[in-house]
Amino acid sequence: KSEDEIVRVTFIDKNGKRIKVNGKVGDNVLYLAHRYEVEMEGACEASLACTTCHVYVHGDYLEKLPEADEKEDDLLDMAPFLKENSRLGCQIILNKELDGIELELPKATRNFYVDGHKPKPH
Ligand code: FES
Repeated sequence: KSEDEIVRVTFIDKNGKRIKVNGKVGDNVLYLAHRYEVEMEGACEASLACTTCHVYVHGDYLEKLPEADEKEDDLLDMAPFLKENSRLGCQIILNKELDGIELELPKATRNFYVDGHKPKPH
């Protein structure tokens, strides 16, 4: 694996613990988290149907990400502890520009399918 494919990612878990991992270009943040046993649930397996992969993107990395599409925005509206820098982890694909990105996990996530709520159309 060549050096220039490596994208360093720091996860900050619910307890504030920093977990530094090396991902690579093209990795999906959800599956990267799973590979390193970071507690990001991902109940819908990256199919944009839950909010359990909710993360806060630190600093100016937020601007380096492609904007959330409407579906992601709608889902985020239902996420507990929503912030300005909230995104869905499974929609973040690593590229070289994101090297050093910090992703913080919210205090809690909610799986509305399990809770019996379905996303409502606007
Ligand atoms: Fe469900 Fe990301 S894993 S939306």
